[in-house]
Amino acid sequence: MTIPMVDLKRQYLTMKDEIDRAIQGVIDTTAFIRSKNVNQFEEEFAAYCGATHGVACSSGTTALQLALKACGVGPGDEVITVPFTFIATTESISNVGGKPVFVDIEEESYNIDVSAIEKAITKRTKAIIPVDLYGQPADLDPIFEIADKHNIVVIEDAAQAHASEYKGRKIGGLSPLTCYSFFPGKNLGAYGDAGMVLTNSEGMAERMRMLCDHGRKGKYEYEIEGYNFRMDGMQAAILSVKLKHLDDWTGMRRRNARLYNQYLEDVGVITPVEKEFAKHVYHCYVIRTKHRERIQERLKAEGIATGVHYPIVLHLQPAYCCLGYKRGDFPVSEHCAAQVLSLPMFPELTEEEIVRISVLVKESMPDS
Ligand SMILES: Cc1ncc(COP(=O)(O)O)c(C=O)c1O
Repeated sequence: MTIPMVDLKRQYLTMKDEIDRAIQGVIDTTAFIRSKNVNQFEEEFAAYCGATHGVACSSGTTALQLALKACGVGPGDEVITVPFTFIATTESISNVGGKPVFVDIEEESYNIDVSAIEKAITKRTKAIIPVDLYGQPADLDPIFEIADKHNIVVIEDAAQAHASEYKGRKIGGLSPLTCYSFFPGKNLGAYGDAGMVLTNSEGMAERMRMLCDHGRKGKYEYEIEGYNFRMDGMQAAILSVKLKHLDDWTGMRRRNARLYNQYLEDVGVITPVEKEFAKHVYHCYVIRTKHRERIQERLKAEGIATGVHYPIVLHLQPAYCCLGYKRGDFPVSEHCAAQVLSLPMFPELTEEEIVRISVLVKESMPDS
């Protein structure tokens, strides 16, 4: 039996009737664009995360771009983030005219090394984007302190961290702006692309709403020039149905992570560390090992998928050669990129499957 990284079909079959009804409802009302499903989902998701406003948009990438634009980031501005993330984090900075400035990560959590942030701040620094990688929040409080001291804004990239918590509080209402992706494979995933920015600032929300819909104030009145970054009604209707299951799915992911930790305990691989301030939601279950390729090959031969998030750090990507970084600049990121391995992780994964995967990992180690 094959085991994929993520099994969206298995999940759909557990709630087929609900989803089918929601989709049919959108078709029946033909409310495809600017539908009230979108406003409803904005309110539901913001309330779920403890934020005042939600601005729905077309993807996690456009969520980041809206947030940066709403903060006035533009040409000449620098934005601090990590090189060990998906390119959307940095692409959105460049796409509004800003310049990504990298800071290394911390080895245990794979998130931004807070102690390295201040050295990267210059007069041009406008924002900082901590990424909640794999589903675990960055250490937000010291980041907020640094940001306050230097008058820079924090835009949290929570694309992988729906429902995760920092010091017992759900993320989403903690940073000035928190950006989510609802890419299908995410912990809360649409049936296409979708995203959202959460904020407690009414002014920011209003500006992002305008930017998201061509900068329009009335039907043909444009206060500013914007984009077409709208979320469509079908995705919103599906997401409203799926949001009701998110707590259960998060619990199932955490149970699966506990099982993996248990079965991989004496195998000689590094298992994920949940920081004392965090509730990790395990978007990815990531181990670290020098023997990544042998494990991947063995699992592949048995029909088990694996992934590497991410094999090449951003500062060494050709797309960023213009930034002038070189190998060795962010050694922790580079080291992790060479050793991380994501094992299958989704709520419906069974204990039997986790045992099978763990046994094969063990058998692929050179001294087993
Ligand atoms: C950390 C991170 N940031 C941003 C994004 C962008 O999200 P999307 O694919 O919805 O544009 C993703 C998702 O792929 C991500 O993992």
